[in-house]
Amino acid sequence: MEKILYKLNPFKTSQKTSCSFLNHELMNKAYKFHQTIPGYAPTPLYSLSSLAKHLGINEILVKDESPRFGLNSFKGLGGSYALANYLSKSCGKELSSFKSLKNHTKNQPMQTFASATEGNHGRGLAWAAQQFGQKAFIFMPKGASISRVNKIRAFGANIEVTDLNYDDTVRYVNQLAEKNGWVLVQDTSWKGYQEIPAQIMQGYLTIVAEWLEQQKEQPTHVILQVGVGSFAAAIAVGLQQVCDKPIVFIIVEPTRADCFYQSACSLDGNPKNASGDLSTIMNGLSCGDPNPVAWGILKNLSECFITCPDSVAARGMRILGNPLKKDPRIVAGESGAIPLGLLYELCKNPQLAPLKNSLQLDSDSRVLFISTEGDTDPDNYRAVCWDGRFGN
Ligand SMILES: Cc1ncc(COP(=O)(O)O)c(C=O)c1O
Repeated sequence: MEKILYKLNPFKTSQKTSCSFLNHELMNKAYKFHQTIPGYAPTPLYSLSSLAKHLGINEILVKDESPRFGLNSFKGLGGSYALANYLSKSCGKELSSFKSLKNHTKNQPMQTFASATEGNHGRGLAWAAQQFGQKAFIFMPKGASISRVNKIRAFGANIEVTDLNYDDTVRYVNQLAEKNGWVLVQDTSWKGYQEIPAQIMQGYLTIVAEWLEQQKEQPTHVILQVGVGSFAAAIAVGLQQVCDKPIVFIIVEPTRADCFYQSACSLDGNPKNASGDLSTIMNGLSCGDPNPVAWGILKNLSECFITCPDSVAARGMRILGNPLKKDPRIVAGESGAIPLGLLYELCKNPQLAPLKNSLQLDSDSRVLFISTEGDTDPDNYRAVCWDGRFGN
């Protein structure tokens, strides 16, 4: 059986990490813009007090991203913000509100926005393109589920399922976009392609801006799940900017898509590829190449990099879906539930006691995580929660 592996971060710096494209001002700009999109509502921040007591910690806080724009994940925040920035720039206007941007673009020729996706980013981008009256062409890796394809198609996007894995699909769509004059809206960056991924990360900061208005006390620990790492890097920098006390950031990813763990284990501190075949039920985290910009941020400020088998995510889904006492029920998909699955293991698994100690996770700890998706794969959700699939 696959084990939970961890690497305490040898590259962590003691100073606060600053980032020119993820500052407080830009956070407020993205937040203001998102608030003008029809259907916008802040996602809830829940406290699971009975579970916290059960696990022997002070507080567990969960920001549930499943209701975000009706899309069942947080991903629409990034795609919509990158699209809006692109469109406002192309019509020479300062980005202000959704309505004024729509007015400015209504007589402009339609653009095609393209991307590779495991599901959630493509759904968010297709939705955003439809909102702005633009076209989307979405590419999915081999094995993409029909339900995920249909959910993207429902927003009027063109779709192609490739016979490649996720990382090769990204390279494929990049070439096609260049050839066809499409605008690539990819949620990871590489040399020469950084502006749009940075705007996507700025879009994610709306989660932090909302949290700031909802919270009563800052967390001591934050567990963040990574695919390419753009989400975790944006949230970590954003939280660091608005909190005065230091936070222990814990990074988690699937065993077979362990690019951050591998990077943390490297001797040179450069980003490394995953060692596994990327197969996991945590679809959104199934990435082999880290975003180098995200790695640059997370290697400075994370305490620890952890890999988990699918059974840990499955337990997280079951716990969140079957709460103790008066705790709220949260429907969390595989990638959304992994932080809680990990927290449970840290508190209950005696083999992880040394790690729990190193992380200073105890009865004073206030742990925050973001359930980044709802049941985006309803068949698997039921198989896990009803039939106990992926149990230990
Ligand atoms: C539900 C969910 N959570 C987390 C992530 C991780 O985001 P990133 O790839 O930026 O690390 C994704 C990515 O698609 C996702 O879909």
